[in-house]
Amino acid sequence: MSKIYPIVKYGDAVLARPAATVTEFATPELRQLLEDMFDSMYAANGVGLAAPQIGIGRRIAVVDCAPREGPPERMVLINPEIIHAEGKQTEEEGCLSLPGFRESVTRAMQVTVRAQDAEGNWFERTGEELLARAFLHETDHLNGRLFITHLSSLKRELIKKKIKKLRQDGEW
Ligand code: NI
Repeated sequence: MSKIYPIVKYGDAVLARPAATVTEFATPELRQLLEDMFDSMYAANGVGLAAPQIGIGRRIAVVDCAPREGPPERMVLINPEIIHAEGKQTEEEGCLSLPGFRESVTRAMQVTVRAQDAEGNWFERTGEELLARAFLHETDHLNGRLFITHLSSLKRELIKKKIKKLRQDGEW
């Protein structure tokens, strides 16, 4: 049985602070959390989810960028670090914690991440395009950063203003 967590939205402090390093691996609790994170991500139609987005300030993210009609490509990233990034891509990006907002964001085209799996084994994985973007976006989350930090201050302030209005109207 897995639990579908509600997604924490922009404005919650857990999204704005660096998450804590994971030191215990291969525990039933960690395995359950990973299952819950995948199921919460799929339920929200996301391609990536970081633990702070379900209110848990630990350095854990899950990613699945495979087309939904095909087999899943589940990736677990614990304590991830970006160790290489090259090239450039500019695409629209969104975030489950900023529902309704999508903006063009320039990111590296090819990214190598170093992370631990549920057993604590370190591995490296290189991704391009959407997967590269997901590695950067999710690692940002674990450092307390949302994609709007990559926008111009003008665009960012506009989004913040809209969210403030939504909050006043009880819609955020
Ligand atoms: Ni996000």
